[in-house]
Amino acid sequence: MAEPQDPQLATNPTYLQRAERAKADKPPSRSTPLGAVAQVRSPASSRRQMMEGILAQDRDLVPGTFGTVYYKPVTVCGIDLKLEPVQPSIGTVVHGIDLARDLDDPEMVTFLRELWLERRVIMFRNQAHLTRDGMVKFAEHFGEIGAPFGEREHMPNSPHDLNQQVKVEGIPNMLVLPSDETVPNAATGWHADATWQPRPPMGSILMCREAPPVGGDTCFCDCHGMWEGLPLDIKERVEHLRAVHIGSVGHQMDGVTPVAVHPVARTHPETGRTTLYVQQGFVRRFSEEHGVPEDEEKAILRQMKLQEGRPEYTCRFRWQPGSVAMWDNRCVLHTASADFWPHRRLMERLTILDFDESRRTPYYAPQEH
Ligand SMILES: [Fe+2]
Repeated sequence: MAEPQDPQLATNPTYLQRAERAKADKPPSRSTPLGAVAQVRSPASSRRQMMEGILAQDRDLVPGTFGTVYYKPVTVCGIDLKLEPVQPSIGTVVHGIDLARDLDDPEMVTFLRELWLERRVIMFRNQAHLTRDGMVKFAEHFGEIGAPFGEREHMPNSPHDLNQQVKVEGIPNMLVLPSDETVPNAATGWHADATWQPRPPMGSILMCREAPPVGGDTCFCDCHGMWEGLPLDIKERVEHLRAVHIGSVGHQMDGVTPVAVHPVARTHPETGRTTLYVQQGFVRRFSEEHGVPEDEEKAILRQMKLQEGRPEYTCRFRWQPGSVAMWDNRCVLHTASADFWPHRRLMERLTILDFDESRRTPYYAPQEH
């Protein structure tokens, strides 16, 4: 068994319990995408054999640079930036910036915020020098730092989630997301963070400290596209409905699973645009007050599910150590690609809350048609 990525894991009961599978030489469960991909790459009934097969496939990978990248050159506060669109409608990588130094000028912060609102997710590379405190300082330019799951009223104390067991000394709001060969771990399934909170976090920031040589990308999906792409009759039917968002067992506090009810169509409080605020990681049904018959409810949710992760609304970000992504949870879903076991991956996450408290609760204000 490999050394755990964080010393706290070595005495963590959940980690040790999950490590039993590795000790018994059992491959990762095929009921998770991580286990399924591993089985595809290197079919074996022994974990050790499976791992050796995959590592042999990846052993000769070396980093390199190829081809042409299209970017838009801009100069902000005297700094030459290169803006690389990841996909036509979502995602821009901002090259040429130092997040530890270049945000002292408010004009740069305004520029990045406007780009973020326009592109839903902005990414940065080569920021490995940014310390954990530096990440907090960067995040504070855009909003108030939230607790690991947004609002401070809800601090999960469930023993079931590995992720929240790793606490950062001095930065209680940071969530460390480890994955190693012994206990693989990835947040799979399209979701926006902590929508089971009454006032979910506005945005999230993710820093990559350890990246696999291949795999482990994070994918982002634009919820404006999802709303626009819904069939017209469904849009009209659901426009004024509210949906029930239910947290998972790992989000429990004192044994109680958190639940919040939010509008299905959500108005983005800064751009005024409508997003589909339903993601099937946390939403199973509409609010009972609407009395939607079960069959119809299922059919509508199926239509919405078809919009999740459509390639046209989605971009995919390849991590390197020092890569940072900041996304808007009000109009973006995300998921990790759980295909990288047995490689290591180590991420750090902060949530950010809107400075303007009146904009934190999701609402719908219909636009003129
Ligand atoms: Fe997430």
